[in-house]
Amino acid sequence: MRTVLVIGIGAGDPEQITIQAISALNRVDVVLVLDKGRDSHQLVDLRAEVCRRYLRERPYRIIEVPDPRRPHKSNGYALSDYEAAVRQWHGLRAEALEHVLLTEVDEDGCAAFLVIGDPSLYDSTIRVVQSILDRGNVVFDWEVIAGITSLQALTARHRIPLNEVGEPVVITTGRRFEADPRTPAGTVVVMLDEGLACRAVSEPDVQIYWGANLGTPQEQLRAGPLTEVIDEIVEARARLRAETGWVLDTYLLRRG
Ligand SMILES: C[S@@+](CC[C@H](N)C(=O)[O-])C[C@H]1O[C@@H](n2cnc3c(N)ncnc32)[C@H](O)[C@@H]1O
Repeated sequence: MRTVLVIGIGAGDPEQITIQAISALNRVDVVLVLDKGRDSHQLVDLRAEVCRRYLRERPYRIIEVPDPRRPHKSNGYALSDYEAAVRQWHGLRAEALEHVLLTEVDEDGCAAFLVIGDPSLYDSTIRVVQSILDRGNVVFDWEVIAGITSLQALTARHRIPLNEVGEPVVITTGRRFEADPRTPAGTVVVMLDEGLACRAVSEPDVQIYWGANLGTPQEQLRAGPLTEVIDEIVEARARLRAETGWVLDTYLLRRG
């Protein structure tokens, strides 16, 4: 029977990979990469670099599968329409990947998806693999191997704990935070935020810990009272995009 491995490879630094992930990589015949276009090509390169460094025990192939166009929030979807459009997009991805599994992976072969960070955090690979199985056209065993998330990379680089003692942590998206930019007790982590929604926060006691392209040579870190450092973050973000062509950033907000 075919095997599919969903392997977390860390958020940007090829050294941020677990020994379990390296062992899993060395079972792989075919690495499947959804090619999302030029902007994120450095992430495709990160996967290639991880394979080059660690996948040493057997020959393997990397297959880039063109990613069906994803619906974009800026196209003015209401939230419920947007969620339906994302579900439909996952269906198209499942169809494309099912075809590759059937045509490119032997019946007893092993395929892997290398996921940035950890597969459980704001990533659709687990859902897509489950929908390939649900379609019933290809049968396989599958395993998920945990990775270091961008959130863990952020807290490590700033040398801070994720939570305050006994306090909750909310992890949210830029889209949701933009709709309700409150900073409740505890910690708020914002991911997938293309427009720095935290600019709407005006309370002077909110601290921000921001990190962009974490784990890469171009990594940027800023921290301090949000209202005082936000302009610097906006500028650093724009400069990073101009220099590298891509920005992935995550930030953490808390009071005091
Ligand atoms: C689709 S989610 C993937 C999250 C990933 N599975 C994880 O465990 O971190 C993409 C978001 O993760 C965050 N992210 C991923 N890699 C990052 C990096 N190297 N530096 C900063 N943030 C990153 C950003 O918030 C980005 O918008």
